[in-house]
Amino acid sequence: MPMSFDPSSPEYAKKLQREQQFYKRQRDQSSFLKRFLNHPLIYNEQRLNAAYDLAKIAMTKAAQERLYKRKVDRLLIAPCGTGSDFPYLTNLAHEIHGLDISEQAVASCPAGLQCRVADVLASGYPDGMFDLIVSPLFFHHLRQIGFEPFLREFSRLLRQGGVVVILEPSLWYPLNVVTRPLKILGNPYGEIEEEGPIPPTEMIQALKTTGYCEISWHGATFAHPALPVFASKFLHRLMWPLRRSLLKSFFWMNVFVAEKPTI
Ligand SMILES: C[S@@+](CC[C@H](N)C(=O)[O-])C[C@H]1O[C@@H](n2cnc3c(N)ncnc32)[C@H](O)[C@@H]1O
Repeated sequence: MPMSFDPSSPEYAKKLQREQQFYKRQRDQSSFLKRFLNHPLIYNEQRLNAAYDLAKIAMTKAAQERLYKRKVDRLLIAPCGTGSDFPYLTNLAHEIHGLDISEQAVASCPAGLQCRVADVLASGYPDGMFDLIVSPLFFHHLRQIGFEPFLREFSRLLRQGGVVVILEPSLWYPLNVVTRPLKILGNPYGEIEEEGPIPPTEMIQALKTTGYCEISWHGATFAHPALPVFASKFLHRLMWPLRRSLLKSFFWMNVFVAEKPTI
């Protein structure tokens, strides 16, 4: 259950510090198990890139479909990390902004992205500034806090009728049976303590509670960074036609799309 949330609490300040520390971490090679699991034959850039690429292409398609392929004025990527989402999203808006709590991450963002270092909850942007907010891989860091405060803030930043697109890993992805216990056995990939895949229903419920409308969601990809690239691509293609079926909860990533109501 989410704890009662106070953004001015010392606990939240510590949570933001943990997020910032993520970019300063070294790869942990302190045990045989960690060296094994970090071996390039098991865990490597190509596998990571292939799986995340498929997920982000699907996220971008979902946004394009909801916008009927028209370009909006202002898009916010929240959080933007090092800006890896930017190349996927450049055709969606005339002006693209990004924010992230990590100064180190923002320093690596590409030039075309107008960035600021800030907490999502204290961004300083005015009400209704954005037509579209894309939030890739953020809410699964927030299960202990709850999604509502962040969805309410996104709603404040969106104009009426504005769209939010969220990409998140699903708790029900079958490979989690292997990968989740590994985290308990020593967190070999240096994840943030409290991050973990989410039940898609929790996101849908939170979107409803915070007043969004036109909510839809579907599977983004069945690929996974633990799989060889060919297997990721094969599974992605195999499962893609089923992304809107009852099996969507079992995809590695899901994409959620919703709108701020017009009055
Ligand atoms: C998994 S990364 C995703 C970044 C980027 N969207 C991507 O897909 O590469 C999560 C990001 O959330 C940022 N973050 C976590 N809590 C935040 C907050 N309250 N406000 C702003 N950024 C936050 C972290 O610094 C980190 O860059």
